[in-house]
Amino acid sequence: MNNFNANDELNSLNNLLDQRYSCRAFLNKAVPKSTILKILSCAQKVPSWCNAQPWEVSIVSEDKLESLKKLTTKAGVDRLHKPDIKFPLAYEGVYKKRRRECAEQLYGSIGINISDRDASFKQTLKNYEFFNAPCVIIITSPKNLGPYGLLDCGAFITALTLAATAIGIASIPQAAIAGVAPVVREFLGLSSTRDIVCAVSLGYPDVNNPVNKFRTTRANEQYLIKENIT
Ligand SMILES: Cc1cc2nc3c(=O)[nH]c(=O)nc-3n(C[C@H](O)[C@H](O)[C@H](O)COP(=O)(O)O)c2cc1C
Repeated sequence: MNNFNANDELNSLNNLLDQRYSCRAFLNKAVPKSTILKILSCAQKVPSWCNAQPWEVSIVSEDKLESLKKLTTKAGVDRLHKPDIKFPLAYEGVYKKRRRECAEQLYGSIGINISDRDASFKQTLKNYEFFNAPCVIIITSPKNLGPYGLLDCGAFITALTLAATAIGIASIPQAAIAGVAPVVREFLGLSSTRDIVCAVSLGYPDVNNPVNKFRTTRANEQYLIKENIT
């Protein structure tokens, strides 16, 4: 590659990773379809086992999104929980601690005490309105590819959020939407041979909304290395 400077490349990637965050309030402003396509074609470049590229996406916006929102919101209010892929069984130890910390940051940012169940449920319901995002991407994976298909989709989702950041679009992956899979499947006519992995909501961020003003932390890299190769 011409003019390749490893430090510059790493700095660019690191800056992009620093800029990305999960956005939970969007402006009421449409994202051009050409921008969405650019993001998707960038995200598609991630590796996948056997180059299967198992992800498939449904792009939902405008009137269709308004209709979907009504159905997912009703499902959320009714506390429907029927994901295609089992949700985590338990967050224990350090995972429990991290989960609590990020919940406290989220609810704290909008003045909700985490033990106030009614107020926190109200905020949770905003998931089903896609946080007012103008565009939602539903990602599915073929059931036959099992956990490795999901792994490939995870890579795709990460790249999608980074590509979006690079072009000035905020995003949030939402497993909450996978929790109401039957409603999403029926509305979009998705095949029963595919798992609904999650949604990614996209749009221009409402930067003045306090819910977008906190940033989650990351563990020191020393904690993730279980064995040192010297
Ligand atoms: C697979 C996946 C599913 C997620 N589902 C939700 C969700 O349903 N609702 C939500 O508010 N955030 C959801 N998030 C966002 C995480 O809470 C967020 O990524 C994490 O707290 C780290 O914060 P950051 O993205 O701002 O760095 C999800 C993230 C991932 C990767």
